[in-house]
Amino acid sequence: MRPVIIAANWKMNTTPADAGELAATIAARTEEPGVVRVICPPYICLAAVRDALAGKNVAVGAQNVHHEQGGAYTGEISASMLAGLATWVILGHSERRRDEFEDDELIGKKLARAISAGLRPILCVGEVLAEREAGRAVEVVATQLRGALVGKDVEALLNAGFVIAYEPVWAIGTGRTASSADAAAMAEAIRATLAADLGWGHNAESVPVLYGGSVTSANIGEFLAEHSIDGGLVGGASLKPDEMAGMVARAAVTAKARAAAEGKPA
Ligand code: 13P
Repeated sequence: MRPVIIAANWKMNTTPADAGELAATIAARTEEPGVVRVICPPYICLAAVRDALAGKNVAVGAQNVHHEQGGAYTGEISASMLAGLATWVILGHSERRRDEFEDDELIGKKLARAISAGLRPILCVGEVLAEREAGRAVEVVATQLRGALVGKDVEALLNAGFVIAYEPVWAIGTGRTASSADAAAMAEAIRATLAADLGWGHNAESVPVLYGGSVTSANIGEFLAEHSIDGGLVGGASLKPDEMAGMVARAAVTAKARAAAEGKPA
């Protein structure tokens, strides 16, 4: 049974002075059984968020790591530096692909560093609008997956709890979402790529796939109704406690239904 995950990507928002309080408020408003909750604040807020979430069963994630372990890389943060601060990390977000020119090979190196530092990675993939309109979305995402994952230690990735987030670039911050049917089809195509192209076989079925792109409490139910989608990677709405409460409450319904289908308590 795959977990149901709601991951908050705060992007370049919050400060060390206010992040802890926001995280604590969200934690208190989202105490639902069976949902994995993750908050990914800016690096500089990690310590405040970690302290605010102590004992609260909400994980803390970073939004990036450098691909090297250390050295002369001004302004960068390595995976091992995050020890004690974060247990998850977002990699390959489209904003970093676009603004920092991250390519699949570099993202693959970051992935390897992240898992060897014991971090749980969320690998982001997704097509731009022109690619979707040209009918190339699945091909683009498959290329991103192959570029980042080829030659990687599958067992290590699975042990790390590797997660994929499908975030169509045209849906991020636009108020426009993919249809739940298109997102579900992409989640299936992602697992098919892992299984066949990358040789993960049946292990592909155990990889959680999240949807991201203008997710809110009002629309997350459509995505969570799809068996192939295991939660959301949420930007703007994740900064609002009411929205987080609504999204996690809806995710708990799916978590409970999945547990019941397996004959387990949520
Ligand atoms: P929005 O939810 O603001 O569209 O952002 C999605 C995203 O990029 C999460 O990583």
